[in-house]
Amino acid sequence: MYVTLRKLLFKFPPEAVHYFAMNSLQVLCSLGLGGMLRSSFRPPQSASFNLGKLVFNNPVGLGAGFDKNARWLRELETLGFGFVEIGTVTPLPQAGNDKPRLFRLPEDGALINRMGFNNDGVEVVTARLRKWREKHPVQLKGDKAGLVIGGNIGKNKVTPNEDAWKDYEICFKELHPYVDYFVVNVSSPNTPGLRELQEKESLRRILMHLQMINNSKAHAKPILLKIAPDLTIGQIDDVIDLSMEIQLDGLVISNTTINRNGLQTPGDQLEKIGAGGLSGKPVRGRSTEIVEYVTRKTNGTVPVIASGGIFTAADAAEKLSAGAALVQVWTGFVYEGPSIVKKIMQGLVQLRKA
Ligand SMILES: Cc1cc2nc3c(=O)[nH]c(=O)nc-3n(C[C@H](O)[C@H](O)[C@H](O)COP(=O)(O)O)c2cc1C
Repeated sequence: MYVTLRKLLFKFPPEAVHYFAMNSLQVLCSLGLGGMLRSSFRPPQSASFNLGKLVFNNPVGLGAGFDKNARWLRELETLGFGFVEIGTVTPLPQAGNDKPRLFRLPEDGALINRMGFNNDGVEVVTARLRKWREKHPVQLKGDKAGLVIGGNIGKNKVTPNEDAWKDYEICFKELHPYVDYFVVNVSSPNTPGLRELQEKESLRRILMHLQMINNSKAHAKPILLKIAPDLTIGQIDDVIDLSMEIQLDGLVISNTTINRNGLQTPGDQLEKIGAGGLSGKPVRGRSTEIVEYVTRKTNGTVPVIASGGIFTAADAAEKLSAGAALVQVWTGFVYEGPSIVKKIMQGLVQLRKA
């Protein structure tokens, strides 16, 4: 059924469809249809999954950038997600880049985006989360899992890289009481210069500073780092060393790629689309390779959330066998539709039985 709906939706601009689809779901939930939707999208029960002490009802989450402003948590929980990573959130609100800035590549099962961290700013997002937490408490000691919420944090475009740590600090402090884990995002290709922060010394400065603040809290929250799939082996080794050195709680592998090799979409179309991060099927292989490499090199001591090209249960199983603790979907959600979590979980249960 979604294949037919998708044909129609794909006739309209992707960003407009994104808001239309999620706002429609919000209306349905507000009209009291949430219970019905919840039962039709409910994934099969599985053993719970863990990331450190955090407990997840199921291992399928939604990647950052889909619900940047924490506006659709109820709706995403209704669709069966085990966790949602909100953000990337920056200290000040940002409009992001000019539109159009999101493009479909149907021949490749992919998207290209150059959103540029459009978001409502940490104050507004925190207020929304505070409201959500009135009824959905944060997980403190591995208690029963509700929807787990990750806070993905970044820096404003106008903040120079040498001051980036201050932006991360602001977002970290504001969101700390309201999220279950944090992701430090230095890997988006759409904020000029951001990816330079993946260099070891810059990373050390930001992450150690956040760890220090974290350790002064009554309840420290797991801090993960999200990396680009375009890092060289040397850079990945640096990330691994640093993760061990400062006892990072995990890595999110990976963000979108700037690589355009091997695509079916014609070159002139790609040129017309222009700059941005490529996501979906073309990043699957590289992301899995990095998950595997990191798991092997660290003996599994650095937990991984895998992101990149997950559309089906087989894709999720590939990431889990490569060593990931959890998986996230984004582009797959657009192509496979609202039953993606249920389908992945059904498939994983089948694969486990086989
Ligand atoms: C439109 C769009 C916006 C995104 N925004 C963010 C973001 O703000 N922060 C972030 O860390 N990742 C962002 N991502 C990257 C995704 O979270 C994910 O890591 C990436 O798309 C690879 O997964 P996929 O192949 O399942 O889409 C965005 C991706 C897309 C397609």
